[in-house]
Amino acid sequence: MVPGDPLIELDGVEKVFTVRRRAGRLRRTKHEVRAVDGITFRVPRGEMVGYIGPNGAGKSTTIKMLTGILVPSGGRLRVAGIDPARERTRLARRIGVVFGQRTTLWWDLPLKDSYELVRRMYRVPDAVYRANLARCVELLELAPLLDVPVRQLSLGQRMRGDIAAALLHDPEVLYLDEPTIGLDVVSKAKVRSFLREVNADRGTTVLLTTHDLTDIEQLCRRVMVIDHGRLVHDGDLAGLRAAADGERMLVVDLARELPPIEGVPGARTVKVEGPRQWLAFPATGSAAPLVAAVADRYPLVDLSVREPDIEALIAELYAGGGAARREPGDGDPAAP
Ligand SMILES: Nc1ncnc2c1ncn2[C@@H]1O[C@H](COP(=O)(O)OP(=O)(O)OP(=O)(O)O)[C@@H](O)[C@H]1O
Ligand SMILES: [Mg+2]
Repeated sequence: MVPGDPLIELDGVEKVFTVRRRAGRLRRTKHEVRAVDGITFRVPRGEMVGYIGPNGAGKSTTIKMLTGILVPSGGRLRVAGIDPARERTRLARRIGVVFGQRTTLWWDLPLKDSYELVRRMYRVPDAVYRANLARCVELLELAPLLDVPVRQLSLGQRMRGDIAAALLHDPEVLYLDEPTIGLDVVSKAKVRSFLREVNADRGTTVLLTTHDLTDIEQLCRRVMVIDHGRLVHDGDLAGLRAAADGERMLVVDLARELPPIEGVPGARTVKVEGPRQWLAFPATGSAAPLVAAVADRYPLVDLSVREPDIEALIAELYAGGGAARREPGDGDPAAP
């Protein structure tokens, strides 16, 4: 393949889970969850793409299909020309995966023994292994950690260890499912600069899932947004922000759960989570009159003004597009 070739190709990919739910004391009913609902996109070789969306949108399910862990229910999927579910082992040599929520390292072994196992598992040639390990150790500052059992590592140390493990066999594609989750600012910065380097230097294609918009801002020119298993945006971050109409958010904490705030001129409620509500207002306007209007009629406990985060952006995108607004308790997986 040459640069620019699509390395990841999805055409109408679907994943439907059948789950059994309790209905009454003895009866169980079958219920379908369309986790991924007809997704089509291409990722050219060398690109670093953000794959974002609210909880339960279908991001991890997509990544699991791209690794071959899950078999799609429909559509066509290719990674480096390989059908992942059919040739999972062959594909494994060409991809690296990091699931931020759980480690792929051996819990009781020192980091360096885990790496040794990875080397044997993928039959990585000695010279390649040594060069890759040296690079990762230097850039991810792993030297003091190599003899430490994985279970003794902090979350940030473990994540850096996991990322190194995913790269020792020189994969062409790296899937990162929330690689910065739970990390402090310093660790996040380390991980980001390392990923930037891997992408720029090695030309590794990266698909990145995150809830941190800063990850996207700093790493990805292209961002895809998935919601309820469907792709709702594929373009640059600026386009995504524009879709939110250059609005800011007034986040208010009320004394109790109340219906969405109404009748505040220049603002509209785009998200409600328990007693917390998000009101979008034009970025050019001032929050002061809105605060006054809310405080006048609602039991206001606390407030803050925010640039839209990913969840709010998506809520905005949907509210603006006339799609259903999300509220807790309506069966929406995004609800806490
Ligand atoms: N093995 C499974 N069996 C049944 N349902 C599942 C399974 N895995 C995922 N789901 C459902 O599929 C939907 C998508 O889940 P997925 O894990 O892909 O979301 P996500 O976008 O990664 O969310 P998060 O941001 O919370 O990680 C959810 O409704 C989830 O409950
Ligand atoms: Mg997930």
